[in-house]
Amino acid sequence: MRKNIVAGNWKMNTTLDEGVELANNVNTLLKEKKANCEVIVCVPFTHLTSVNAVIEPELVKLGAENCSEHAKGAYTGEVSASMVKSTGAQYVILGHSERRQYFGENNEQLLAKTKLALENGLLPIFCVGEVLEERENGSYNDVVRGQVEALFSLTPEEFGKIVIAYEPVWAIGTGKTATSDQAEDMHAHIRKVIAEKYGQEVADNSSILYGGSCKPSNAKELFAKPNVDGGLIGGASLKAEDFMGIIEAFG
Ligand code: PGA
Repeated sequence: MRKNIVAGNWKMNTTLDEGVELANNVNTLLKEKKANCEVIVCVPFTHLTSVNAVIEPELVKLGAENCSEHAKGAYTGEVSASMVKSTGAQYVILGHSERRQYFGENNEQLLAKTKLALENGLLPIFCVGEVLEERENGSYNDVVRGQVEALFSLTPEEFGKIVIAYEPVWAIGTGKTATSDQAEDMHAHIRKVIAEKYGQEVADNSSILYGGSCKPSNAKELFAKPNVDGGLIGGASLKAEDFMGIIEAFG
């Protein structure tokens, strides 16, 4: 059976001290009240080792927000999948719309990153999602299909390790959430696309998270949908109480 997951994406927020404090607070809250889902914090590269030292692995898992498409070598400023893995991280967010939009990451690079992540024992949280124009002109199902299909050279075994995060770009950081029906329709569509290629079992075992202005007040309705297996949380993951409020949607 697929896992329910709530993952925080801190983006480029918090200094090291602030990040360690936030992780510590999340860990403390989860010690008091056990989660009914897997909890992950995806943090800036600079914070990985220090955050790893304050979280208890059975309560909170650790992830990075990106990794290089190159294995190693002369790529100044880049951080490889093996470096991420060596910090104790288990997950890595790949293909976030901010990476696609502001850093021009394309399908080919994202496939290379995904393969390196998997080779190094990291589990990718692979983001897909349409922009507002594509939502409005009705091409959103095809756009997201294409983003998922970019991974279809993976073996079924490899694809089975991927967590998909559907994040409509128009809902990220805008306060405008997709309705639970819009999310459910897209998640069902993604699962169908996966099933066509890899079969129903792989599709049924794939966790598909929703992301985009998810908060304690709307998480319960979103997560109640049969194809929504949790959330990738930006803004609301920066306050331990809000993040916990979302985790408790799986009460
Ligand atoms: P948001 O971001 O929750 O702040 O909308 C979600 C994300 O980009 O992962």
